[in-house]
Amino acid sequence: MRIDILTLFPGMFTGPLTESILARAQEAKLLDIHFHDLRTFGLGTYHQVDDSPYGGGVGMVMRADVIVPALEAVVQEGEKGKKGQKRKKGKPWRIYFSPRGKKLKQAKVERLAKREWLILLCGHYEGIDQRIIDGGWIDEEVSIGDYVLTGGELPAMVLIDAIARQIPGVLGKEESAAEESFSASLKRKKEYPHYTRPEEFKSLRVPDVLLSGNHSKIQQWRIDSLK
Ligand code: ADE
Repeated sequence: MRIDILTLFPGMFTGPLTESILARAQEAKLLDIHFHDLRTFGLGTYHQVDDSPYGGGVGMVMRADVIVPALEAVVQEGEKGKKGQKRKKGKPWRIYFSPRGKKLKQAKVERLAKREWLILLCGHYEGIDQRIIDGGWIDEEVSIGDYVLTGGELPAMVLIDAIARQIPGVLGKEESAAEESFSASLKRKKEYPHYTRPEEFKSLRVPDVLLSGNHSKIQQWRIDSLK
C-alpha cells in the first residue's frame, strides 16, 4: 500500500513510523510512505498556508489555494511515479482528519486496509477551507474520537498503525490479527482477558479453566468473557 501524507510537521512522524512493526513493514515494502511538507506549497515569500477566517473569530484556516494544488501534485506524482518508484494505477482515497469526520472503527480500518493508495491530509489551526471538501478534493473526513487535537498528525499515525496490522505479512504469526478485539470473528466485541506465568501473582490466581487443558471449556470461557 502506498500512503502519501500531507502535513506541516513531517518530523512528528519520526518514532511511530521508524520503530518496531511499522518500520519493518516499510523495509519489507508492504508499506510505501511518502511525506509532503505543505509549507513547500505555501504562498509568497513566507510560504503562507493559512489565513484568518471570513466572518471573524479566532484561529486560522488553511487556504484552499494551497491545499488543493498540493493534493493535485501528490496525486500526479503517484500516478506518474517518480524515478525508482512504482506508478499507481488506481485512484487514491483521500482522507482529511477532523473531529467533524465519521468516527474511526475497526470495520472502517479493515475496509481502508484493502485500498492500494491512501492520501492523508493533516490539518492544523482551525481546520481547512470548507471548499476543499465541498469541491470534491477529499473522499472521506475521519475523526478518531470526540475530543479535539492540535492537528491531524496523531490521527494519521493512529490510522496508519491500525491499517498496517491488517495488511497480510505485516504482523508475524505471533502477533496475528485474526482473533482480536473488534474483529468480525469476535463479533466486533472486545477481546477476552489474557494471562501468562506465574500462576499466582500477589495472591491473584489465573482462572482454573485456563490451566485445565480442556480446549472446548477454554473456548467457551473466552466466548463468555467477550465484552
Ligand atoms: N483533528 C483534531 N482533532 C481530531 C480528531 N479528534 N480526530 C481527527 N482529526 C482531528
